[in-house]
Amino acid sequence: MAISFDNNPFKPGYGALPPVLAGRDDLKNEVNRRLANAGKGDKNPTAIALIGPRGCGKTALLGWIEEKAKKRKLPVIRLTKEDFASVGDLESVLSDQVVPPNKSHDFSVEVKDPTFTGASLRGGYKRETEYNHVERKLKLKKLMAAASTKGLAILIDEAHDMPAEVGHIFYDSAQSAAQSNPIMLVIAGTPDLESVLGRSGATFVERMNTERIGRLSWEDTSRALIEPLGKNVTFDDLAKGVALRETQNYPYFIQLWGSALWNVLARKGVTHVGYEEMKEARKTFDQVRHELYNRRLHELDREGMLVPVAEIAFRIGEDGKPSRRDFIAITQKMAYTRDQWEAEEKLLHTGFIWQEGIGNWQFGIPSLATHVRKEAVSMVLDRIKEENALLSFRRIRSYFKLASKLPTSYLEENLRTVLKETSQENQADDHLAFFSELGILCPSRKPDHCLLAAPLLTEAVIEKADRLEVKPEMEPNQEPNLQTRHEPDDYTPGM
Ligand SMILES: Nc1ncnc2c1ncn2[C@@H]1O[C@H](COP(=O)(O)OP(=O)(O)OP(=O)(O)O)[C@@H](O)[C@H]1O
Ligand SMILES: [Mg+2]
Repeated sequence: MAISFDNNPFKPGYGALPPVLAGRDDLKNEVNRRLANAGKGDKNPTAIALIGPRGCGKTALLGWIEEKAKKRKLPVIRLTKEDFASVGDLESVLSDQVVPPNKSHDFSVEVKDPTFTGASLRGGYKRETEYNHVERKLKLKKLMAAASTKGLAILIDEAHDMPAEVGHIFYDSAQSAAQSNPIMLVIAGTPDLESVLGRSGATFVERMNTERIGRLSWEDTSRALIEPLGKNVTFDDLAKGVALRETQNYPYFIQLWGSALWNVLARKGVTHVGYEEMKEARKTFDQVRHELYNRRLHELDREGMLVPVAEIAFRIGEDGKPSRRDFIAITQKMAYTRDQWEAEEKLLHTGFIWQEGIGNWQFGIPSLATHVRKEAVSMVLDRIKEENALLSFRRIRSYFKLASKLPTSYLEENLRTVLKETSQENQADDHLAFFSELGILCPSRKPDHCLLAAPLLTEAVIEKADRLEVKPEMEPNQEPNLQTRHEPDDYTPGM
């Protein structure tokens, strides 16, 4: 088959089934077995949860399962965000699957639970205008049972976006429907899914089979990249190794590299990949990867995570591996402005770092940390300049650096005094609030004390400011007068 733009087999994008869905062999075997059993009417109420960072192939796997199910003539209900915004939405999507056109079907539900009814009456409980929880669960259960006469696969994508109150009703009813009907439930979501499910209070969470969908092995990466190119395409040995390495075993990058290579071969009308072809393909790859990184970076920024995440990226360093301690350190810093669980879910959702296996923490998107380290410095510096707070930033940094060799916290009042010594006296409060919001300063455990939350990033920002020869509004070596500071009697350095 000739190589042309029109027959590019690679699918870099969201959820597209790749030409070779490499790896995940245990999961595929398990799914095949479960689909066969569901087709025979066997019941297995244990749900499968696919959990992993973005771009690792959760949606592609759901697509693969759907294909396999359809081959076995097993009905499939595939749901995504807009289908489960409310229980009402779920009811109507499921009804559509069950009720044949022009034939109405009665799914009304009689509440028989005496405890519930009694409690309602005694407490003067005001019934919901439509359905209460019990009725809703029964209705959903009936709908799923009715849809599963020939077996049924329910596939839920982006399950982390299911509101907790919807999850509570849906998962309970799905589980109880699956106890007496051949229903296979597979849900997929980002690494915050476990926490989201926990919040929904659904009991099946403890018993579900969790499959972690991360990066591929080297062998699987090789299959996914090389096989779709076909037997006619040959490589310089070095070129093949470089392309494989640069995918970093990340499924999305595999498709991106494959697609870029294919298009270069199509444009040049050749079937050999050498130095020149690699160079051209890399241009496309680098550009798209850069755009992806920027989207992620701005997302971190929007969610108020840029500074804590960049600080940890500096702390882990170029060749380091993240750990649970890093996860806790970021979320604790984020938690000054929100709840701890909210901070954890937000961070897990980005997949910046996640737990690929027990105790095995990884970066979700390869080399994003490198990009964060580089770009966060410019972004923070720009922000500081926009606020006209560079001088205050330098003073705060000097204060923390000079006042103690140890990481330490200082009375907020003292920081305010330090800032007031500059010409921008009236801005001291604004600047303190700005640094706190940015995540540079955070409250310490001591009352009214502040901590320099991102010392490594702070140094990098100052270094960049110096390098760019941003003219400070005061002499950089004119350090604040530390003698004038007052500390309370119980002050202990090192807090
Ligand atoms: N096992 C695999 N082998 C090769 N390519 C894959 C594999 N899994 C996924 N891909 C490719 O990787 C890319 C990302 O896959 P997909 O969109 O399914 O990821 P995702 O985990 O659903 O991401 P998101 O959380 O952003 O929805 C797609 O281009 C897909 O074709
Ligand atoms: Mg997806």
